[in-house]
Amino acid sequence: MKPTIPELSKLLLSWYKANQRDLPWRKSRDAYRIWISEVMLQQTTVVAVIPFYERFLTRFPDVHTLAKAPQEDVLEAWAGLGYYSRARNLHRAAQQISVSGFPQKAAELLELSGFGPYTSRAVASLAFDESVGVLDGNVIRVLSRVMGLPLKWWTTKDRQILQDISDQMANAESSYFINQGLMELGATVCTPHSPACLLCPWAKYCVARAENKIAKLPLKKPRRESEIWIWDPILIVKKDKLALVQNNYVPFLKGQWIFPGTAKKALLKPMKFDVKHSITHHEIYIRIKDSLESKDPQKKAIQWVSQKELKKINPSSMLQKILQKKS
Ligand code: ADE
Repeated sequence: MKPTIPELSKLLLSWYKANQRDLPWRKSRDAYRIWISEVMLQQTTVVAVIPFYERFLTRFPDVHTLAKAPQEDVLEAWAGLGYYSRARNLHRAAQQISVSGFPQKAAELLELSGFGPYTSRAVASLAFDESVGVLDGNVIRVLSRVMGLPLKWWTTKDRQILQDISDQMANAESSYFINQGLMELGATVCTPHSPACLLCPWAKYCVARAENKIAKLPLKKPRRESEIWIWDPILIVKKDKLALVQNNYVPFLKGQWIFPGTAKKALLKPMKFDVKHSITHHEIYIRIKDSLESKDPQKKAIQWVSQKELKKINPSSMLQKILQKKS
C-alpha cells in the first residue's frame, strides 16, 4: 500500500508517545540542553553519551558558564568523545549565544559555529517547535526504506529529496514528536541489520519490506580510500616539559597542538613503527624520535607543557599512546 505522508506522521506520533525511551535530554525543552545532546549524539550511541552528557551539564549547567570557561576545561570535559573540533566549535557558539541569545529558527542557528543543517533543525524543532524536519543517518535509513527509495543520499540533490519528505512529516504533526519519533524508530526498530519490522508502526506501508529490499536500503556510501601516513614526531623534553607546535604539517589533527616532527604519505606501511593509530581515513604509523636538545626543530612557535597539561591542551588518545610507549 502506497503510504501518504500525513498517515505515516500520525502513526509515528502515536507509536513514539507509547514507546519512547526515557532519555535525559527528553526531560526538558531547554535549547542549551538539547543542543549539547544533539552534538554529542552525532558522534556516538545513546548509551555511550549519557554519562558524558550528565557530567558535562553538571560542569557547565548553562550557556553562560560554558562561554566563560577556559577552552582547556571544555576539551577536558569532551575527552573520550573524540572529534575535538566539535568541542571547540561548541565553545565558540556558546560565546556567540551568551552575547546575543539563542536564535530560535534553523536558518539563524545555521550561522553559529559548528551548527550544520542537522543540529540547526534539531534545536529549532526540539526546543522551539519550528516545523522543520531533521535528517541524520537514522532518518535517512527509515525514510529510504518506508518509501522504497534507492537514493544516493550523500549527494546534495538526493539528500534534498529525503529532506523534503522529513520536512513534510514535521509539518503534518508536531515537529518535536515527529523528529524524536523518526530518530527513535531508526535507533530501536528500523536498525541497520535485522530490523524489528513486527514492532514497526509503518510495517504495512513499508515499500522496502513489501519488495524485499530492506538489506539494500539505504544505498551504501562509497568508502573513501584510506591513506597510509608515516609520522615521525620528535619528543623534545626540557625540564620535564614537552615541546608542542601548532600542526600545519600533517593532514590529521589540523590546527591542533601536537609534537613537532615530519610526516609523509606512503603506499605501504613501514616495516618498523612504535604505534599505529587511525583517525577517519588516515592510517597512521608512528616512529617516535627522541631529542634531549632544546633547539627549535621547525622554527615555529613552541609551547612547553607538562604531561598533565598536554591532556588538557590536546586530549587526543593518539598523543597519549605515544607517551605511554615512551614511558
Ligand atoms: N540521536 C540523535 N538525536 C537523538 C535524540 N534526540 N534522541 C535519541 N537519539 C538521537
